[in-house]
Parts: sequence; C-alpha cells; structure tokens
Amino acid sequence: MGYKDQIDFLKLPQHIAIIMDGNGRWAKEKGKLRVFGHRNGVLSVRDVVEGAGDIGIKYITLYTFSSENWNRPKLEVSAIMELMISTIHKEINNFMKNNVRLNAIGDLKMLPEKCYRELMGAINKTSVNTGIVLTLALSYSSRRELVQAAKNIACKVQKGELDIADIDEETFENNLYTSGMPNPELLIRTSGEYRISNYLLWQIAYAELYFTPKLWPDFRREDLFEAIIDYQKRERRFGMISEQLN
Ligand code: IPE
Ligand code: IPE
Ligand code: MG
Repeated sequence: MGYKDQIDFLKLPQHIAIIMDGNGRWAKEKGKLRVFGHRNGVLSVRDVVEGAGDIGIKYITLYTFSSENWNRPKLEVSAIMELMISTIHKEINNFMKNNVRLNAIGDLKMLPEKCYRELMGAINKTSVNTGIVLTLALSYSSRRELVQAAKNIACKVQKGELDIADIDEETFENNLYTSGMPNPELLIRTSGEYRISNYLLWQIAYAELYFTPKLWPDFRREDLFEAIIDYQKRERRFGMISEQLN
C-alpha cells in the first residue's frame, strides 16, 4: 500500500508550508556546483505541488528565497534569479493545466525587474484558476512582514480609521502578506536542520512541525504524503487536555 492510500482525506491539512532546504549540499555530494542543486530542486517543486493539488490540499507555501539569502555570493543569487525567471516562464502551461493559482509573498520589489515582471505575469494569468494556491515566499522575512503589519496598523490609527482598543489578533492577521489564507497546519523542513529561519513566525503558532533529513532535490510527493500521514497521527490539543477533544 502506497502512502497515498493511507491518507485520511477527511483530515487533510488545508495549508502546508515548506522550507525547501538542502539544494547546495545535494549538489556538493555529487561534486557539482550549488546551482545544479537549485535546478534539481525545481523538479521537486513541480512534483510536490502536483501531488498536493492532486490529493486536494488547498494552499501550499514554499520558502523559495529569504531576505537573508540576498547575502549569498553574487553569482549564486543571480543564478537563482535566472532560474526563477526561466522556471516561472516554463511552468505557466503546467499551472494552467493543473489549475494552480500562483501567488507570492515577500519584499517583491527587491527582485530584479525581469523576475518581478515574469512573476506578476504568471500571477495574473493563473488568477482564474480555482485549484491549489501556490504561494512562493520570495525575498521574504517574517520579521519584516510583522514590522510592516505594525506600520500599516499604526497608519490606520493615525488617520483615525482605527481605534487602538479595537486592535486584536484578527487586525494583525489582516495586515500580514498572508491575509485571507488559513494558517498552515503543517510545516515541513527538509535537510535535517531544526530551525525556522525567519519563516511565517506568526502563522505557524500552532502548526505541526515535521523535519526530514532528506535534501530538497530528493523530496517528492511520496515524501509529502508521508509527512501528511505523520501529521494525521498527532493530537492537536491547542492547550486543552486529551479528554476534552472528542
Ligand atoms: C535551499 O537550499 C534553497 C535556498 C535557500 C535558495 P540551500 O541553497 O540553502 O542548500 P544548503 O542548505 O546550502 O544545502
Ligand atoms: C531557508 O534556508 C530559506 C529557504 C529555504 C529559501 P537557508 O538555507 O537560507 O536557511 P539557514 O541559513 O540554514 O537558516
Ligand atoms: Mg540551506
């Protein structure tokens, strides 16, 4: 029996977030340049997104490039940006065929002009699709997102549109890049690192965390299904005790 047959379709997470890590080490293991790992990582993205859409996951959010990643060697950064441009261009037809709606979060204005345009074009074109929402976190920093949310809220207070007493968690949620999306119930990180690396800090407050030693280019839909099965075995108590959950 494959992993897919073991999934309880009544208990699917709506939103899965993934920290796709380990491309560089994967390439190094093979005696290749880091960019070879990034290129192969794209194949994992395609397979995982297709697999997730296929079983009915509604949202998948992929950590693609962090704000901190701008500090990598120039050559690697430009190779990743080039790869982004060509990948988005090539994948559009697949997105249309698979009913994928593309979305992006992060400081997108930091992206090279060509990358930004390609991305916006794809987001526009796929906006008619009604299947899985694929969100790419690009030039993304969760702390920056939170600071931005605080600024937006302060601005509304200053303009007299909002009362301080009315600021609550919902106000905050509505001012995050992820406004309108459910919070991820499951966060996966590949490559055996046990950290969050400035990803979706607010949104993962109650997410189940799943770490796998597999490097991202080796991660495929079967691995995603395995993570979902693991998630489904857990008891999510939200601060209560077992007996209170039916
Ligand atoms: C993840 O793989 C992709 C990005 C951060 C862009 P890495 O490039 O971080 O690969 P490792 O962690 O160095 O192996
Ligand atoms: C996190 O991976 C960012 C992405 C996967 C895009 P990193 O490889 O940049 O994170 P650290 O440096 O190991 O924390
Ligand atoms: Mg890494």
